[in-house]
Amino acid sequence: MLILSPLAMVKLGPDVQSGTADAYSGYLPNGNIWGFSMMHESGTGGAPKYGVVSQMPALGNISNPLADLSQGRASADQAQVGYYKASLNNGVVVELAATDHTGLYQYSFPKGNSPSIVVDVSHVLPSFRGLGWEQHYSKGNFSFFPDGHYEGSGTYNNGWNLSPDWNIYFCGRFNEQPSSSNTFKGTGTTLASYDTSSSVSGTERLGAVFTFNNSNVTSRVGISYISSSKACHNLDKEVPDQTSFQSLVDKAKSTWNTQVFSKVQVSSTNAADLQLLYSSLYGMFLIPSNLTGENPGWSSEQPYYSDVFTLWDTHRCHTPLFHILEPVAYEEFICSLIDIWRHDGFMPDARSSNYNGRVQGGSNADSVLADAYVKGVRGCIRWDDGFTAMLTDAETTPPNNHDPKAPDSSTKEGRGALPDWLKYGYITPTFTRAVSRAVEYSANDFGLFQVAKGLGKKTEADKYLKRSRNWRNHWNPNCTSNGHSGFVVPRRADGSFIDQDPLNCGGCYWGDAYYEDNAWVYSMNALHDVATLKKFIGGDDKFVDRINKLFDLKIFNAGNEPGFTSPYLYNFVPGKQHLSAQRSRDISKLYNSGTGGLPGNSDAGAMESNILWQMIGLWPMTGQTTFLVLSPWFPQMTIELGNGKTLKISTTGGNKDTAFYVQSLKVNGKQWDKAWVTWQDIFENGGTMDFVLGSNVAEWSTGEPPPSPASGDQ
Ligand SMILES: *[C@@H]1O[C@H](CO)[C@@H](O)[C@H](O)[C@H]1NC(C)=O
Ligand SMILES: *[C@@H]1O[C@H](CO)[C@@H](O)[C@H](O)[C@H]1NC(C)=O
Ligand SMILES: *[C@@H]1O[C@H](CO)[C@@H](O)[C@H](O)[C@H]1NC(C)=O
Ligand SMILES: *[C@@H]1O[C@H](CO)[C@@H](O)[C@H](O)[C@H]1NC(C)=O
Ligand SMILES: *[C@@H]1O[C@H](CO)[C@@H](O)[C@H](O)[C@H]1NC(C)=O
Ligand SMILES: *[C@@H]1O[C@H](CO)[C@@H](O)[C@H](O)[C@H]1NC(C)=O
Repeated sequence: MLILSPLAMVKLGPDVQSGTADAYSGYLPNGNIWGFSMMHESGTGGAPKYGVVSQMPALGNISNPLADLSQGRASADQAQVGYYKASLNNGVVVELAATDHTGLYQYSFPKGNSPSIVVDVSHVLPSFRGLGWEQHYSKGNFSFFPDGHYEGSGTYNNGWNLSPDWNIYFCGRFNEQPSSSNTFKGTGTTLASYDTSSSVSGTERLGAVFTFNNSNVTSRVGISYISSSKACHNLDKEVPDQTSFQSLVDKAKSTWNTQVFSKVQVSSTNAADLQLLYSSLYGMFLIPSNLTGENPGWSSEQPYYSDVFTLWDTHRCHTPLFHILEPVAYEEFICSLIDIWRHDGFMPDARSSNYNGRVQGGSNADSVLADAYVKGVRGCIRWDDGFTAMLTDAETTPPNNHDPKAPDSSTKEGRGALPDWLKYGYITPTFTRAVSRAVEYSANDFGLFQVAKGLGKKTEADKYLKRSRNWRNHWNPNCTSNGHSGFVVPRRADGSFIDQDPLNCGGCYWGDAYYEDNAWVYSMNALHDVATLKKFIGGDDKFVDRINKLFDLKIFNAGNEPGFTSPYLYNFVPGKQHLSAQRSRDISKLYNSGTGGLPGNSDAGAMESNILWQMIGLWPMTGQTTFLVLSPWFPQMTIELGNGKTLKISTTGGNKDTAFYVQSLKVNGKQWDKAWVTWQDIFENGGTMDFVLGSNVAEWSTGEPPPSPASGDQ
């Protein structure tokens, strides 16, 4: 429930309390609203980040602004793209609109009841999970001025990425002079001062109460990571005095329409499908945040993006679609990843409040960069630096940040388990998450191979291609489960395998051998080496049966990223593409545009981009130019690719729910018998895909299987 422009720094919305539920983006459907704050992250897990720079309306004489001023909702919240409205139990109505660095609050107070606005600098989203990832307010300062405006800053730390103190600056103006202004300071709910002093600072909770004569008050607030004067500058530039509320709502809507929604046009008139399509596009572009010009860490001519949560979640299918739909922002994002390496030493797997943190598996920026490289993303990217950044991940062990959840090695950035990876070619139980990290390090090394090859670095290309095969070192051919043998398992320094039930991964968390999924799932993730994987599993029929078992044994979880690609690997077996189409439809049924309409946490748009690929009828193989063919939903879909290029996908004879098997396919007018296409086939210069769909299985995909670029040694 955030008001923002695509990828903007300001993400304005209500902060809700409901028992001990963590409100990751501030919003919860039930509970009291305790503030409306300007910075949020939507669709993240772990523990909340931000929920800072807030205002809260109140009525009557406020004897203690540190006390609970929260209000229930008198009626359901209302929201549209660019607009939000809350009706509070005390009769106050709050409407919100936003620009890139500014929020506009429009308050309607009940008449004659001393309308006030409380600014509490200590306001930050709490966490109740007990993981040690909760945010803290550290200190702040606050001043108001004779013209009625206010400025200040707040300092906070921790959150899911365990960041040290970071500052945010703000500058607020009202549409009329407050009739009284009082600053306050205190600890907990105990006031230390509450008077007309125009300035307060310190480590105590602090802020101000502004009271107004009129019952309609509008407040504009700008923010900046740089200074409070920059916050005022951002405010006055984006929302000058007298700007109408409605004009900001209209502007946000038209920005979303031109930058995002208009990129995908479909022929459907099915309201539920259209709602799911455009809601999913919205959910894809809430983070990262374009902070170009707002980087407090270093000055650079390069773009700057933060609020990355996390490439572990997004590199499979979000970043490849981000590239297609927002090519300019995507190029800037890649440049920014490299610039973060240039100045902070490592690219992020996750980053927030301008600090890298929370590496779950590999250094997936390597896979993201490889994907961009092989698809021809150039522009502001200096690829020699890009490759050196990848080499840092592949060769330099990051200093341990002593994360209590995984004290063995860094969770801040890079590859913490690199010492084993370099020494043994696999990862011993010295390191937590050893097996799942090894599978990801293989894919990351494949990324280095791709870029080295493109840059003509033959020695490095050979080296990293070899290393990309190291997932095989965890493969125990004698490990069995449900009629299958051969799984990736933990392995000791002496080379022996550790007994492992492939269905069991202990807690599947930070301290275990596999992170968030088991050996059945991670064993399918050698996506650059599928031909070898198929051979290890026992050939085509066994391979098909192994994918089937992921579903039959209820191992597959559509809400968790490590398994995202497995349902479509049938395309690697001639004539079996129809099974991928079937899985695509089964997974699609888990989505809808209502409450609980995603099969899991959004994970920064990973989930939304997944359903969008189902609608398109393709699945990306990150780091390669390959897209697996699924089954498109709509009679016509046109995707704008920039520079006047389009991809047009048509289906005839189909029905989304009952007739989705591919009967035949033409790509750019040519009959097609492969269950895959490449970037060059349809995206580089645009293209067409014309499907005939039907309710019966047709074994049309009899051509060459998709590439398996690391399997060339077979
Ligand atoms: C609020 O405080 C002002 C000033 O202290 C006082 O004049 C006024 O009567 C108070 N109003 C209420 C409703 O208590
Ligand atoms: C105050 O706000 C209410 C609700 O938005 C609106 O109906 C009313 O016209 C406004 N009054 C003034 C004086 O702007
Ligand atoms: C307010 O806090 C910021 C950030 O810590 C600091 O740079 C600034 O000097 C402070 N101003 C005052 C008046 O304390
Ligand atoms: C608010 O109303 C009081 C009483 O009518 C008046 O004295 C004061 O000047 C007004 N304040 C502003 C800022 O308009
Ligand atoms: C990112 O922000 C900068 C600074 O506001 C702006 O110049 C640039 O165009 C933005 N990028 C995109 C893709 O909108
Ligand atoms: C698997 O089992 C066979 C038969 O017991 C044995 O010869 C082989 O060495 C085992 N392989 C591994 C990798 O343990």
